[in-house]
Amino acid sequence: MAESTKERADKGVVLVVDDDSDIRLSLEMLLQYEGYACWTAKDGREALARLEREAAGDPPRRPVLVLSDVKMPDMDGLQLLEKLREKDDAPPVILISGHADVAMAVDAVKKGAADFLEKPLDQNRVLVSLRGALRAEKLAQENQRLKRALSGRYELVGRSAAMRALAAQIERVAASDAAVLITGENGSGKEVVARNLHFSSARAGGPFVAVNCAAIPAELIESELFGHEKGSFTGAHERRIGHFEAADGGTLFLDEIGDMPLAAQAKVLRALETREITRVGSTRSMQVDIRVLAATNADLAAAVEAKTFRMDLFYRLNVIPLRVPSLRDRIADIGPLAEQFLRQIGERSGRAARTLSADAIAYLGSLSWPGNVRQLRNAIEAAYVFAEGDEIARADLEQVFENGPALAAPKTAAALPAGEDPFRAPTFEEFKNQSEALFIRLKLAENDGNVKRTAEQLGMQRSHMYKKLERYGLKA
Ligand SMILES: Nc1ncnc2c1ncn2[C@@H]1O[C@H](COP(=O)(O)OP(=O)(O)OP(=O)(O)O)[C@@H](O)[C@H]1O
Ligand SMILES: [Mg+2]
Repeated sequence: MAESTKERADKGVVLVVDDDSDIRLSLEMLLQYEGYACWTAKDGREALARLEREAAGDPPRRPVLVLSDVKMPDMDGLQLLEKLREKDDAPPVILISGHADVAMAVDAVKKGAADFLEKPLDQNRVLVSLRGALRAEKLAQENQRLKRALSGRYELVGRSAAMRALAAQIERVAASDAAVLITGENGSGKEVVARNLHFSSARAGGPFVAVNCAAIPAELIESELFGHEKGSFTGAHERRIGHFEAADGGTLFLDEIGDMPLAAQAKVLRALETREITRVGSTRSMQVDIRVLAATNADLAAAVEAKTFRMDLFYRLNVIPLRVPSLRDRIADIGPLAEQFLRQIGERSGRAARTLSADAIAYLGSLSWPGNVRQLRNAIEAAYVFAEGDEIARADLEQVFENGPALAAPKTAAALPAGEDPFRAPTFEEFKNQSEALFIRLKLAENDGNVKRTAEQLGMQRSHMYKKLERYGLKA
């Protein structure tokens, strides 16, 4: 039987704080009847202790809302409210008082209470207030998430004709729920496009879950995508939510889809057709409401010909094709992109942003960029290290490219900054890590940032390579 994940998910915990045990009990019964779990505390101090204990637990837990009496012997409701509001991620607080006066209610709301209720409590009034507070909280969180996501990191920079056309396409496609297959060379910005699509769509308030299909070992792919129950196979110590389930209500981005093993392709196809998934080791299926975006730099049509990619899955994913142009086909974007990266480096390092001289920009435009925007970003970061003044000159860039096209990994240990020189590492463990990171960086640079090729060259499993890249923060 299919079961909606939304219905199945319990509504979370409400913390009830009151020194009157009858009120605690009646609120607890009401809340449980409504599908909430309930914690209780007899005063503010006990409530704080409980919150701390739960937050430090494994897994950490926090209530979705706090319902607190005002008058209590040990730390009253207003003090509790103030304590809670000191933290960024405080749950909303509804205060209850037997001796409500307008001044107190106004004070409470000023201090950040979500609502103020009077005793004797009316059950309906409690529920209305609770739902209102939770809705407001959800909106506030979505808002924050949107702002964070849109600020800087995933901005689609570029004013070339090709990029303007792409931006217009994204705008149009975002309005629909159709599957989109994003293609483009290495480092051209496929993931940036996927994120922009999500945040321009009606699902923007929901999750964006990116899955790198190439980074998951074949035997784990089903459990990663669909989740598993505790004990369903050796090593499944805990229940795990899969990516499909995590993306419920939002967008699932299947990156490097061309690398998905055939066996997994069949299962993904079924999940996309039915919008129903089953965790490994479970007999119950559940419905998921997702929009699917996929990306690849491989020629999927050729893979279909070669029978390494299922034709039916290809058609299901390729409802709307989006092609991200290569950087050499939009030279006009190089200047604005480079300046954006310089601004970002400046922000990160807390220093004033550097600029590029006109001949430096012209020089960048004359290069071929097989690694596209990622290669450009790496080059700018390296040039930033070499450059001395406020303006990066052509000579600084030439120095970078002398050392290899992409990453400018220095040729000798003497040229390395202290934190990256393995021979100056304080411990053997550090030495090993730094050497490994440096080696991979060099090899990646030789291959223009192409992970697949680098892994093949080094005789390494691609999923293993991705783990290393993540560990050493080597890829965007
Ligand atoms: N239009 C753009 N504006 C700003 N930054 C961009 C743009 N395109 C790409 N980037 C930056 O370039 C880097 C590579 O982009 P992204 O990861 O989206 O590329 P990709 O096509 O998914 O690469 P790969 O083929 O390696 O998966 C990232 O750091 C990204 O932020
Ligand atoms: Mg990518």
